[in-house]
This record gives sequence, C-alpha cells and structure tokens, in this order.
Amino acid sequence: GTLGIAPATRKMESLLRRVARLSSSVLITGATGTGKEVAARFLHALSLHATSPFIAVNCAAIPADLMESELFGHEKGAFTGAGQRHLGYVERAADGTLFLDEIADLRPELQAKLLRLIEGRTFQRVGGERELPFRGRLVTATNADLARRVADGQFREDLLYRINVVTVHMPSLRERPEDIPWLMDRLFTEFADRTETGLKGISALAEEAALHHAWPGNIRELRNRMERGVALALGPWLMPGDLFPEHLGEVSATEMIGSLETARHDAERRHILRALAATDGEIISAARLLGIGRTTLWEKMRRLGMNIET
Ligand SMILES: Nc1ncnc2c1ncn2[C@@H]1O[C@H](COP(=O)(O)OP(=O)(O)OP(=O)(O)O)[C@@H](O)[C@H]1O
Ligand SMILES: [Mg+2]
Repeated sequence: GTLGIAPATRKMESLLRRVARLSSSVLITGATGTGKEVAARFLHALSLHATSPFIAVNCAAIPADLMESELFGHEKGAFTGAGQRHLGYVERAADGTLFLDEIADLRPELQAKLLRLIEGRTFQRVGGERELPFRGRLVTATNADLARRVADGQFREDLLYRINVVTVHMPSLRERPEDIPWLMDRLFTEFADRTETGLKGISALAEEAALHHAWPGNIRELRNRMERGVALALGPWLMPGDLFPEHLGEVSATEMIGSLETARHDAERRHILRALAATDGEIISAARLLGIGRTTLWEKMRRLGMNIET
C-alpha cells in the first residue's frame, strides 16, 4: 500500500484507486488528521487529469461574504472594490480537481449555487451574464456527520446526494494499528534526514508506547510528535519520553515493569507488526520471514488480540 498497510487502510486505498479514474463526485469523511486531504490528492494523482490543477478550498476558512466570488470569480465592477475580473477556484480548477474541504461549513446560499454547479455543470462569475462550463471533478471532505446536518436542517439533502456519489471513509489511527509502526518508520526517515540527528532509530519502548496511545489527533498528531521527538531526542534511540514528554515522570519505574509474559507478548506483537510492515501486509510472506507457518501466525495474532482481516 501507499497510504498504509492495515486492512482498513488497504480497503480504503483500493476504493480510492477504483474511483480515481471515474469522474464521479467523491466525499471523503473521517476524523481530524486522518488524511482526508492526502486522500484527495492521491485521487487526483491517479485520475485521468493528473496534470491539470488540484485546487483546494477550505470552506471554513474563507469569510462568508467573500466565498461566492472566491469560488466562482467575479467580473470587473461586479461590486465595490471589484476593480478587475477575478477567476474563482471553480474556473481555475479547469478539468482538474476542485477539492472543497470542510464542506459542512458551506452556507445555505452557496449550497444552492454548488448544487447548480454539479447538476448543470455550469456556473456564473459574480456580476457575469454568461453561463460558463465546469469540466472539473468535485471532491469534498468533512469530519462532520452530514446526515445529521441534513436532519437538523443545516445541510441540503439534495446536495448531499450529489456530493456523495462515492463516499470514502478514512479510518482513525486506532482502527489501523498496523500503520503506526509503518508510519513511524517513514516519518523517522523523513525527519532524521532533514535534521541530521545522531539518532539511530526508534526504540522498541517508543513503538510500544505509540501502540498504546489513543491518537485523538490521528496521523497529524503522530507526525507532530515524531517531528518534535526527532528534533529534541538526546539519542541514540528515540524513547517514549521523546514522543510523549507530557507523560515523563508520570509512570514510576516499578509500574513500568510488567510481567515477563506481558513483555514477551508485547515484543511478539511488535515483531509481527514489523514483519507485516516489511512485507506490505502479506501474511504468507510475513510468516515466512518469521520462520513460522501461516496458520501459526494467524493463531498467534488472534491470541495477541491483533486485527486479522484480509
Ligand atoms: N498516509 C499518510 N502517510 C503519511 N503522512 C500522512 C498520511 N496521511 C496523512 N498524513 C499526514 O497527516 C497530516 C494530516 O493529514 P490531512 O491534512 O490530509 O488530514 P485531514 O483529515 O485533512 O485533517 P483535518 O480534518 O484536520 O483537515 C498531514 O501532515 C499529512 O501529511
Ligand atoms: Mg483537512
């Protein structure tokens, strides 16, 4: 996989690959930091218009009174201060991808205009007379529950049906634990190269601590913790305290010492995750690497409470 190796990630990635070459609208859902924008860019890169623009618009970040002209553009003199014609995001996307992030925050008037853009494949610049064609592909994202917004009367139902022809859900990091060591390795390489630290690698304890963390901020949080950890670690190995400085001193040395059996299970789990990471999630090849049979690996993973799914 490109986005990860966990079963839930592979499913999500294979759906993205399947829809990439279509022109259908795609809605990407998922909690904060799960990689919705990364997924949108991935879709664009695999589309038939990968060399056309990818235009990302954060609907929550643009002031309401500017949104229409930012999206659709305006003609010269359309309103006070409109000294020149301005091309909006819709027009700049051309036959590429228009990515509308935080779509739940789009105001009702603009929801109506967006509906017209999707249904009629046309739009007008503010103050313009001509209907202009829209040839791009619409990808939207949200971490809100849009069905709930529809029920509450805050989001148009007809618009929801138009934008979610295909919905791709980004699993939270907790639902894809196999990706934690995999992402940590990649992020370590990225940040270690950039900062020229003397770090040799990630300690087994740090990996174990990461596997036990809840990751409310998902991949963004992992990325931030790795970046800070790599920058500040005294080395030679990245330790739990480098990733979770807020926990330093919280756990006493005696609490850190679990039973030998727990330690053995933790080590086994970690080792299996590494083998899976190395073989891109292939159970058969991982079993071969580990020197055991496929069914033994299967059995072991079940006993260790690891997610088994293919
Ligand atoms: N598969 C991945 N591999 C490596 N890094 C990733 C991956 N997915 C996401 N990231 C990184 O995680 C961070 C969050 O990703 P992104 O901005 O796409 O999340 P998001 O779901 O759009 O978050 P938000 O809801 O807060 O807008 C980014 O720094 C991104 O580079
Ligand atoms: Mg985002």
